[in-house]
Amino acid sequence: MSAETGTSLTLDLKDEAATRALGQALAARLRIGDLILLRGDLGAGKTALARALVQAHLAAHGIEEDVPSPTFTLVQTYESPDLLIAHVDLYRIGDASELRELGLAEIADEGAVLVEWPERAEAEIRRLSPDSLDISLSLMPEGLRRARLEGRGSWAARLEGLSL
Ligand SMILES: Nc1ncnc2c1ncn2[C@@H]1O[C@H](COP(=O)(O)OP(=O)(O)OP(=O)(O)O)[C@@H](O)[C@H]1O
Ligand SMILES: [Mg+2]
Repeated sequence: MSAETGTSLTLDLKDEAATRALGQALAARLRIGDLILLRGDLGAGKTALARALVQAHLAAHGIEEDVPSPTFTLVQTYESPDLLIAHVDLYRIGDASELRELGLAEIADEGAVLVEWPERAEAEIRRLSPDSLDISLSLMPEGLRRARLEGRGSWAARLEGLSL
């Protein structure tokens, strides 16, 4: 597929170890300016995947940290010598002014932004970066999660060759 329409990939995550492996593969490809959008119903595994990605990135720098869900704080930030990572959950966001207070544009300039429930402020979130990875998680029979990944901008090339 061309870089213009993006590249997409579907992966089946049969258990949490597979979700952690995907987090690890994405962490190895993460760069400043990245926007990762995590979609899916309640309990689909958005936080589990974000946690796996953040912890894999930190572990590569010898850092061990808890990664709680940002459901109530809206944003949690993590720092390594390479990157600042913001993990955001917009499920409970109010209006646009509340979004501005989170300072995501500044973080996108010097780090990566992972967003659960981006559809709560789709246009504003999309504007953060053209280098985006959309991940849609669906709950399948027997607890399996299906992940559909779509890379735009420089993420189109970075998705190629990704396997677990
Ligand atoms: N393969 C899997 N990948 C991810 N999570 C899994 C998997 N199998 C089981 N789970 C479980 O599914 C749940 C996913 O919850 P999680 O908090 O990540 O969902 P969420 O999409 O962030 O929901 P919310 O919209 O409420 O934030 C966890 O309890 C996790 O243990
Ligand atoms: Mg969550």
